[in-house]
Amino acid sequence: MPYTVPFVDPRRHYQRLKSELDAAVIGCLTDGDLILRQQLRDFEAHLAEFVGVKYAVGVNSGYHALHFSLLASGIGPGDEVITPAHTFVATISAIVHVGARPVLVDVGPDYNVDPEAVAAAITPKTRAIIPVHLNGRMCAMDRLDIIASRHQLVIIEDAAQSLGATFQGRAAGSWGTTGCFSFYPFKILGGFGDGGAITTNDPNVAQTVSRLRYNGEDRETGEYHHHGYTALLDNVQAAVLDVKLRHLPAWIEHRRRIADMYRDALRDVSGLVLPHFPSEQQADVFQNYVIRTRFREGLREHLEAGGVETLVHWPKPVWEHAALKLGQPPLEETKAICREVVSLPMSAETTEEQVAVTVDCVRQFVTSYEARGRADP
Ligand SMILES: Cc1ncc(COP(=O)(O)O)c(C=O)c1O
Repeated sequence: MPYTVPFVDPRRHYQRLKSELDAAVIGCLTDGDLILRQQLRDFEAHLAEFVGVKYAVGVNSGYHALHFSLLASGIGPGDEVITPAHTFVATISAIVHVGARPVLVDVGPDYNVDPEAVAAAITPKTRAIIPVHLNGRMCAMDRLDIIASRHQLVIIEDAAQSLGATFQGRAAGSWGTTGCFSFYPFKILGGFGDGGAITTNDPNVAQTVSRLRYNGEDRETGEYHHHGYTALLDNVQAAVLDVKLRHLPAWIEHRRRIADMYRDALRDVSGLVLPHFPSEQQADVFQNYVIRTRFREGLREHLEAGGVETLVHWPKPVWEHAALKLGQPPLEETKAICREVVSLPMSAETTEEQVAVTVDCVRQFVTSYEARGRADP
């Protein structure tokens, strides 16, 4: 049965933009513009401008944005890279695939890496930090910058979930040596398949990652400068993303409005932690609307029965996937978060009516719990 409130709604998303998207795709197909054509260059220029950097290089995933950023920063075997354990596995896999060792640290109450935990994890082998701007909120980049310059560390921002978010007025992806973005379909800017980009102000990094994505080749001279990869952002995807990028500021405002509605309707419900953290420096974009509660499983079942789709990012700590061989880091906050978080529907298509249905369901669950005499649901 279809959900009354789906987590995301790709069909509606397409219908809303159909004429613009169809024109962009058909234009590429009609003109045979498939690989490394003007549509890709245009999208890269517009993305760089949006983020406030000199260069953006399209690649085929957020994973490859991270992988190439590490390679371009010269990170490899024998090096350590510090990153939060509470992230998507791709952040960590990119470190492993360049031969370096991921050093996992804990996060703070806003789900972002704790700068003090980063400082405490530095060893003589540490070469880089990958802060992850999770759920549409940026990390404390001022403190991470100080730590990185003190120890001469590279910062690679995993901004896969935070295109458009800012810290002290500066955008995600403009602080580090590189910023890494994902255009996975359900990201705030999503393609019709996989996609990603690297942003940077460093011309050498931009050149290296441009070559790495295309088998190491310099397109002007035909010279192979690396054993590279086949990892382009496809031209048709770039044309689609360029259309969508024009709508992104309005979508971000919409997400903020939906977040405000959730906050106003749920702030008095006991036993819930809402994702509205003290935020003088951050402007969040709410890629995900994550609430935290000790009664997560019951609440999810109740929402499911009420036709509201929810997701959990992520139900178990990454190191508990034994095949990944990440050891047993004692990261209590990450463990608790995995037990307690649930993401409510949030997208450019989420309507006020759908928020009302979701909020009613959450309140009903809490009320019925209270009616059964439990002090805290
Ligand atoms: C925080 C984070 N990092 C990296 C990635 C990887 O991006 P992709 O799926 O495009 O490879 C994602 C995507 O889900 C992500 O959320």
